Amino acid sequence: MQAIDEQTITEAALGQMASTPDPRLRQIMESLVRHLHDFTREVDLTPEEWLEGIRFLTAVGQKCTAHRQEFILLSDTLGLSALINALHDKRATEDATKSSLLGPFYRHDAPMMKLGDSIIMKSPGTEVCFYGRVVDSKGKGVPNALVQVWEPDETGNYDLQKHDPSEMDLRGCFKADSEGRYYFRGLCPLGYMIPMDGPVGDMIRAQKRHGYRPAHIHFVIGAPGYRELVTALYVEGDAHIDSDTVFGVSDSLIISVKKNDPASPLPKLPSIHYDFRLAVAKDQMSGRVGADPSQIIAKAH
Ligand code: BEZ
Ligand code: FE
Repeated sequence: MQAIDEQTITEAALGQMASTPDPRLRQIMESLVRHLHDFTREVDLTPEEWLEGIRFLTAVGQKCTAHRQEFILLSDTLGLSALINALHDKRATEDATKSSLLGPFYRHDAPMMKLGDSIIMKSPGTEVCFYGRVVDSKGKGVPNALVQVWEPDETGNYDLQKHDPSEMDLRGCFKADSEGRYYFRGLCPLGYMIPMDGPVGDMIRAQKRHGYRPAHIHFVIGAPGYRELVTALYVEGDAHIDSDTVFGVSDSLIISVKKNDPASPLPKLPSIHYDFRLAVAKDQMSGRVGADPSQIIAKAH
């Protein structure tokens, strides 16, 4: 019988898990236990601190609903979601637009609209034209690519955060034309604070972080045979562009709002131009970090 102490416990736990038939599950759990034990030894975690961690994770779970995913928010604010995205991008076999966070406010059932339509249903604000192309790694248009978009209103809230989440606003789906061109009207993107009324907000305040995301608009872009692209565009000059609470910004995703843009399909409006590059799909893995919260709850049952 092996004596269990603060060192031998790690090998004992790994020994019990060695029977795991699925090799990937075995690899993930072994590494997780090693790092978790190393972390615990490194900070010399006390029973009260361990219990505080259990209380925190319990509160994170209790905050989740079909319209709120506090675990995704936790992953985002710890930099885990951005890390998963960076690793995912590295696995692509071709150059593509960088991923950015899906965040907790995507929904899979946004209305299908026609090119040029406005996603603004009721929110006031400055209207802009978003336009560009969806291209492949050689710059050739991807015909009929599906472009899903969503953004917050002027108060910094997504439709899902309002009292009746069944009413959709500031989201829509567009089919690019035969040369991969898309355009639509929306609000000039604004920055906002992530939801701070839960345990993740408590963590952010305890760390004296500001909790803001820079102005952005979200995109999920897909076409058969290509890796799905989950990304966002960020507005140049935003006060939080270098300190996004959830680490979503990359230089290549920063855009500027132009006035009098003769290349815009709606030149009377301010415009935001961006061409998205998709890589071919060489595996089954999607680019998604996160999901529509209602889908996560549905799968868990
Ligand atoms: C968002 O951009 O919608 C978002 C991303 C991460 C956390 C909170 C919000
Ligand atoms: Fe967002």
